[in-house]
Amino acid sequence: VKDWNGIDQIVLRNPQGASARVSLQGGHVISWQNDQGQELLFSSTKVNVKAPKAMRGGIPICFPQFGNCGSLEQHGFARNKIWVVDEDPPPLPTNDSNGKSFVDLLLKPSEEDLKSWPHSFELRLRVCLGMDGNLSLISRVRNMNGKPFSFSFAYHSYLSVSDISEVRVEGLETMDYFDNLCERERFTEQGDAITFESEFERVYLSSPNCIAVLDHERKRTYVLRKEGLPDVVVWNPWEKKSKAMADLGDEEYKQMVCVDGAVIEKPITLKAGEEWMGRLEILVIPSTFCSDF
Ligand code: BG6
Repeated sequence: VKDWNGIDQIVLRNPQGASARVSLQGGHVISWQNDQGQELLFSSTKVNVKAPKAMRGGIPICFPQFGNCGSLEQHGFARNKIWVVDEDPPPLPTNDSNGKSFVDLLLKPSEEDLKSWPHSFELRLRVCLGMDGNLSLISRVRNMNGKPFSFSFAYHSYLSVSDISEVRVEGLETMDYFDNLCERERFTEQGDAITFESEFERVYLSSPNCIAVLDHERKRTYVLRKEGLPDVVVWNPWEKKSKAMADLGDEEYKQMVCVDGAVIEKPITLKAGEEWMGRLEILVIPSTFCSDF
């Protein structure tokens, strides 16, 4: 299917009726629905429909920079580019695609990208929808250069929640975090689970590979399992910042929380020909404990 700008989107479906929609604009998962047709990812009603700006919602890919502390545009350029479908991708070292509906997308740097970030790379994204409706994203970055390069990465996952004030994030207790993306002062999480009552923007460092996001009102728990992604960003803009964002409705912050599997504190360095892989799986369950899996 095509979007309003004529850019292709790929729809994955499983036999039970769950679906995921991926746009070639940004390699961006823009929708993920369970077998009852309920949307599991937030997307703003004030979506910026003009390519090449990434839409507010879904799971934009942040690469090769996270945030705006480097020399590139905020969250890097990958989310603003048009990717292509990779018909013949190299095999994955995991069995992630067995019995699943999936698509492979590919991004290579344009001349313009090479001017701002002079490193030749291939970024491959496999999006898989499992038989049980689970969504997995597997990214591989390969250095196609003679020289090493370093990068940051995040799956900026906008989860749909009924009311942010009722949401708890579990699995990050006692973790160290940065409270500011650029200043890098370390704090330690003291509390129990994370709850939200004001703007929240933290990067939890070297965190466990299983995080649970509990939405009490909907009796829905998102379980995020990650590999190769040591850090977790938790973000909600709250009221004031939302009002300043043109592509987010004033009240919409209540229906979203971003919980990202990411590589931020210690960027990945790849030598010539080396490859890195980062995998995020999200599943939705009625119970609450990562240890159940
Ligand atoms: C978050 C950052 O991860 O992403 C915020 O912590 C930022 O500072 C947000 O505002 C959204 O970024 P953008 O570029 O999509 O508006």
